[in-house]
Amino acid sequence: MDPDNNAAGVVKSFRATLDGFDEEVAWQEGDVMLDSMLDAGLDPAFQCQDGHCGTCMVLLKGGEVKMRKNNVLSARDLERGYVLLCQSEPLTDDVSVVCDD
Ligand code: FES
Repeated sequence: MDPDNNAAGVVKSFRATLDGFDEEVAWQEGDVMLDSMLDAGLDPAFQCQDGHCGTCMVLLKGGEVKMRKNNVLSARDLERGYVLLCQSEPLTDDVSVVCDD
């Protein structure tokens, strides 16, 4: 049995561009993308971790995510593809975000 694919949680990944580098970030179901990036030793911008401040706003370049809550992004931000790292979980295997925009 593959230890990365057991009942305790399936480990997947997403891509994140940060400080000009393209990173493959391991992600486990139930985690938000911000926590996965911090676990990977990356340092994306964030403050409240509660969907209020917008500091962790990134541009979704590919794939789909689910945001648990959003108290800061406008309808226009969402239309343009912005999401909150501290509230987002990947829904597809091809999620890619740009943290530098
Ligand atoms: S860290 Fe404040 S909205 Fe994500």
